[in-house]
Amino acid sequence: MQTISSIKNSKIPLVMITAYDALFASLFDTKVDIILVGDSLNMSFNAKADTLSADMEIMLYHTKAVCAGAEETLIVCDMPFGTYTDENIALKNASRVYQETNAHAVKIEGGEERAHIIKTLTSNSIAVMGHIGLMPQFVRSEGGYKVRGKTPEDIEQLILDAKAIEKAGAFCMVIEGVKADAVARISNSVNIPTIGIGSGVDTDGQVLVWSDAFGFAKDFKPKFVKNYLNGAKLIEDATLKYANEVRNREFPSQKYTY
Ligand code: KIV
Repeated sequence: MQTISSIKNSKIPLVMITAYDALFASLFDTKVDIILVGDSLNMSFNAKADTLSADMEIMLYHTKAVCAGAEETLIVCDMPFGTYTDENIALKNASRVYQETNAHAVKIEGGEERAHIIKTLTSNSIAVMGHIGLMPQFVRSEGGYKVRGKTPEDIEQLILDAKAIEKAGAFCMVIEGVKADAVARISNSVNIPTIGIGSGVDTDGQVLVWSDAFGFAKDFKPKFVKNYLNGAKLIEDATLKYANEVRNREFPSQKYTY
């Protein structure tokens, strides 16, 4: 596995995936560079419409589970909406992540406008992953999930965002939902690794939500998601097989009986 800071000059991109529980975290452990306990769990795990109602207790619960399952891989806990509205609130909540879980870092959405919050955390020895571009926690105030980097002005703003959070001490950053032809400029403007989602190939790494990547999110298929498994169909077929065998009294047969 690569060290995170070495990725910037490496030819091999960094791999991040989300996990929300110990079982899947143990399957992903050592096979990826970073496991993100994303607040995307609100949608992919809890069938909510967006990430906004995830709170500290939910994130701590799932982060503890992921830490129990993945012993080798770097684990990042997403700070949920409303938990880093000022420096003191952010420090109090991010400290809980270090005190109550074994996560190695927290993630915060925001560029220039929240760099002072990242600075407070990194000055207090809390490692921070930034997140710029499309920021799902601000979907309501932004009026929807909007692809970024479509105008020269927006690209300049994203470069300012990336530089501000690097200066604030973030060790890497997610760049989400940014036009692919703008991403190289943003990524090359900083010396810390960038991890893309829905932002093309010109970042230092990629992240996907596990249930998207493995085909469990049946009704969610944006262009940037590749299904590496037809998970939903596999589970549904296996469930029907199990149910049929029980109903037909095929299971448990002698082989499965003491
Ligand atoms: O919550 C999440 O899973 C994320 C990734 C999409 C980067 O923030």
